[in-house]
Amino acid sequence: MWAIVVAAGSGNRFGGQKQFEQLEGRRVVDWSLAACRSVADGVVLVVPPDHDAPEEADIVVNGGATRSDSVRAGLDAVPADAAVVLVHDAARPFAAPALFQAVVEAVRNGADGAVPAVAVTDTIKRVADGRVVATLDRAELVAVQTPQAFAAEVLRRAHASGVEATDDAAVVEAAGGRVVVVPGDPANTKITRRADLGSSEQESAL
Ligand code: CTP
Ligand code: MG
Repeated sequence: MWAIVVAAGSGNRFGGQKQFEQLEGRRVVDWSLAACRSVADGVVLVVPPDHDAPEEADIVVNGGATRSDSVRAGLDAVPADAAVVLVHDAARPFAAPALFQAVVEAVRNGADGAVPAVAVTDTIKRVADGRVVATLDRAELVAVQTPQAFAAEVLRRAHASGVEATDDAAVVEAAGGRVVVVPGDPANTKITRRADLGSSEQESAL
């Protein structure tokens, strides 16, 4: 089982490459890599094209313009004999090894893909032109995290068409795959904005 850590984003909402910021003594990406290494046989790290710092991964490749492009670049580097592939956002440094194990186990038990999901706490509305057009039933909604695990063949086939989505489960779903959910962790937040790193120093830098 191999893992792909996607760290090739530009962090527009954060205002810089958040995956290389410091968080409690190491970079955000290093926490994500360490969690992957604890469960995977090998790790492919996908970095921005201009990135030249040494990284602790088995394979390092350059990413693309979109997250899906970056995953495809990582997938091309995963050894052909890996039966299960994990995809993890570098920007989720708080994911615990148990979460990785849970999604991998669900795939080993027969699912095409498995994703961690947590209940939505905000009310979610569909909006068009500044006007609410629908209020969705929160009881039916979940927020989905990474790590996500997939049967390698299913993920490769689903990504072969070059589709775009904000996560890989959506790519597999679009290809007709069966994606199951495992309990996610509310602490497994994605670093998106400065405030997500939580330091007053960084907040004052705004
Ligand atoms: N990512 C990537 N390649 C891209 C875009 C995103 O590898 N072309 C990675 C990011 O580095 C991050 C993960 O995908 O670890 C989730 O993406 P997101 O949180 O959206 O990060 P960014 O795209 O960098 O941020 P923003 O959308 O605010 O620009
Ligand atoms: Mg993005």
